[in-house]
Amino acid sequence: MQSMPDASPTRWHLAHTSWFFETFVLARWEANYRPANDAFQVLFNSYYNGVGEAFPRTRRGLLTRPTVAEVFEYRHAVDERIARLLSLERPGDGSQEIASVVELGINHEQQHQELMLTDLKHAFSCNPLFPAYRQPPAGGSPRNAGAGGWSSFDGGVVEIGHAGRTFAFDNERPRHKTFLEPYELQNRLTTNREFLEFMNDGGYRRPELWLSLGWSTLREQHWAAPLYWIEREGNWHEFSLGGLRRLDLDEPACHVSYFEADAFARWSGARLPTEPEWEHTAPPLDHSASFTDGRFVESGRYHPAPIDGATGLAQMYGDVWQWTASPYAPYPGYAPLPGTLGEYNGKFMCNQYVLRGGSCTSPASHLRATYRNFFPPDARWQFTGFRLARDVKR
Ligand SMILES: [Fe+2]
Repeated sequence: MQSMPDASPTRWHLAHTSWFFETFVLARWEANYRPANDAFQVLFNSYYNGVGEAFPRTRRGLLTRPTVAEVFEYRHAVDERIARLLSLERPGDGSQEIASVVELGINHEQQHQELMLTDLKHAFSCNPLFPAYRQPPAGGSPRNAGAGGWSSFDGGVVEIGHAGRTFAFDNERPRHKTFLEPYELQNRLTTNREFLEFMNDGGYRRPELWLSLGWSTLREQHWAAPLYWIEREGNWHEFSLGGLRRLDLDEPACHVSYFEADAFARWSGARLPTEPEWEHTAPPLDHSASFTDGRFVESGRYHPAPIDGATGLAQMYGDVWQWTASPYAPYPGYAPLPGTLGEYNGKFMCNQYVLRGGSCTSPASHLRATYRNFFPPDARWQFTGFRLARDVKR
């Protein structure tokens, strides 16, 4: 099923991620390559114009064939052919080039694994029965997010962006210098309790708090609360992948657009951080840690988690993608990947904003300090929240 144009059916995600390996690895390097199915080249092409026609995104929900079983057969066949290709000895740098595209394909598949959960959540939210995809693991004691507090940073000339040979998307490169005025970041994410205060203070009814485009979107789409918030008998509830539940005031506010995050920040006398401020502040994500404490997809919680009162900078990774004030644009010296794969990121650098840090449906192994996610400013179906920033008064 497809609940809206931005979301895709699970089956489509499954087929498309194998299509990526077939198109960008097998078609290029497999001897005597033959397509697994001629029709799949169009059906499961997302947006690569250099590859050829793509079936319209808005009509993916109409693809009742191939069946799910046939899609899994396709996936297994592609996996086997990729494994065979990787087992061959190759002279020169050929193996290295194949390996780098396979690594890109694995990271691409991780992105779609996250989209499967966000798209499923949207589809289930359209059902008045509010079905649960999966109950979160039991455990955890009541926590109190506390007042937050702020951490200060001097700024100056800093470096951001990815350098070196480890994997990163092209949009994270090159590492480059940028200048920051002194700034402060809030130690934790903005909570549901704080967002409710904004709402109770008329946040959604006061045009002076909103960007013009945000206000017109609010009016057109009748926004009065974050996506998935539902008021019943005077109490706020929230639809989650574990079903409908009472709103937990200590959890990070989630499923808000850039416009809502920006309006909240203006209401509170602060602003959203820029992406250089966020990245300069973020410690490296420790990939050796166990990621079962509820902040990433590995925990199986699929919902942002509250924290005990933060005394220092906390929640930089996981829980919710953090909107930044930075438009998604190329870094100085940016070069897209060669060939059709150059369409992966570069052509979307218009009318979108950068988000940082990853969410409760991101695999921890997928994230790093330089990672740049991006969505249009009215998007709300991803696990998107924010933390505040402010200038240091001199
Ligand atoms: Fe894709």
